[in-house]
Amino acid sequence: MTEKRIDGKAFAARLRERIGERAGEFAAKAGRQPGLAVVQVGEDPASQVYVRNKHKATVDAGMESFEYKLPADTSQDALLDLVEQLNLDNAVDGILVQLPLPNHLDEQSVIAAIAPDKDVDGFHVVNAGRLATGGEGFVPCTPYGCIMLLKDRLGDLSGKDAVVIGRSNIVGKPMAQLLLNENATVTIAHSRTKDLPDVVRRADIVVAAVGRAEMVKGDWVKPGAVVIDVGINRIERGEGQKAKLVGDVDYAGAEERAAAITPVPGGVGPMTIAVLLRNTLVAAHRREGITLAGDGL
Ligand code: GUN
Repeated sequence: MTEKRIDGKAFAARLRERIGERAGEFAAKAGRQPGLAVVQVGEDPASQVYVRNKHKATVDAGMESFEYKLPADTSQDALLDLVEQLNLDNAVDGILVQLPLPNHLDEQSVIAAIAPDKDVDGFHVVNAGRLATGGEGFVPCTPYGCIMLLKDRLGDLSGKDAVVIGRSNIVGKPMAQLLLNENATVTIAHSRTKDLPDVVRRADIVVAAVGRAEMVKGDWVKPGAVVIDVGINRIERGEGQKAKLVGDVDYAGAEERAAAITPVPGGVGPMTIAVLLRNTLVAAHRREGITLAGDGL
């Protein structure tokens, strides 16, 4: 019997290995490695961990990593100047500005300044529009990773009842769009949704992306449903004890009823970086006019 626990860590590791092979082939043809620039403003501790992990994964996949660490008081103009410089840099295929930015900076205008064809985060309105209308762009990494895990478990998603809990631009909305593109019947639930447990009970696929620790209870899950938990919530455990990471779903309760479920950590999280590398690989091929078989995976 297939294990209920969806091992995103192992799935992502296999993906990264394939991407590394493709990056090597690209370098042989193009005479340079695919390049990813990551910009971090300030010293948010969680961002520092993410940026370090992205750097290591980029180098391990045979890509060039350009890191820009700017002080917390960097001005909007200075940040926009750097983005423009990276837009024009031929060694840079992908640009990622780590969010959240310090409060004095306007995230939307920084994202809008990134060239859409280097926007490997898929956050630019042009890429959101391409996703909504079926064009060729970049899809945000986390929802793309979720779709890969779902298709790996379920195969065809056509006609499935899917509920996405959360409506952020980064996860909820693109997730719903991707499920719709797979011909699922999609409900987007959020903080104002009436009787959320009942909405979840109808779903064959549940994607939880609300950022509230263990909010989705086990008895909300329809027997046989597939549960994808995007949440990463830190629970402090007092003096001298390491914080515990939990998802948006009560794993123990949900696992009893679900056909398959992602754990936290080790589920969706590792997929995000793997898809970022995939998007960078695709960007590099498109920019050099080199064909990449399949969808880069
Ligand atoms: N902060 C947390 N996750 C992400 C991400 O996927 N991209 C960016 N740019 N910032 C983030």
